[in-house]
Amino acid sequence: MQSEPLKEKCSAGLKLFCSQLQAIHIDQLERKWITISLLVIGLLVGIMTLDALVDGINPPSKVETIDSASLHLSKEFAEDNLGVHVENGKVIVRMVAGRYSFFPKQISVPAETPVTLRWVSMDVLHGVHIPMTNMSTMIVPGYVAEITTTFPKPGDYPVLCNEYCGLGHNHMWSNIAVIAKEVWATRTSTPAQGGNSHE
Ligand code: CUA
Repeated sequence: MQSEPLKEKCSAGLKLFCSQLQAIHIDQLERKWITISLLVIGLLVGIMTLDALVDGINPPSKVETIDSASLHLSKEFAEDNLGVHVENGKVIVRMVAGRYSFFPKQISVPAETPVTLRWVSMDVLHGVHIPMTNMSTMIVPGYVAEITTTFPKPGDYPVLCNEYCGLGHNHMWSNIAVIAKEVWATRTSTPAQGGNSHE
């Protein structure tokens, strides 16, 4: 019963707003720039929507929580479970950031292959940046940061902390050895290096 008058009020308000808007004098040049700004905003929102829906590009973390104080007792980030694993044909890397390093210290991953890196912090806020890749995220205590990246070519990639985390922040870095896909495949078939393939 109340919805009718509300509807009328709304449309009357809208009409008033529109007539007032028309009464305002907007310079021709200003009008042009307003149109251009609205078009740019529309274009950017369109690109973001396309990226999210078509290419699955979303904000890095999907709000996965974890108890940072008891990582060693957790199933996934217990010490034995860190490093590189192949799970259902996917390369998964689990790393722990703590003042002032990334653990494990030595890992090797294949080049030209999507690698999913899962990061957790054992103490404070850290960041991780791997130059030449899209790998750049905050590692917030209490949350799992996950990013899938592809290392373009073999070589040593530096892993750098890019959030101030204490006096040793500028010493907080590590390395990821990226090796040719074929070589990596033969190496991982034998149980060795920076992580185990058993679950
Ligand atoms: Cu860790 Cu800065």
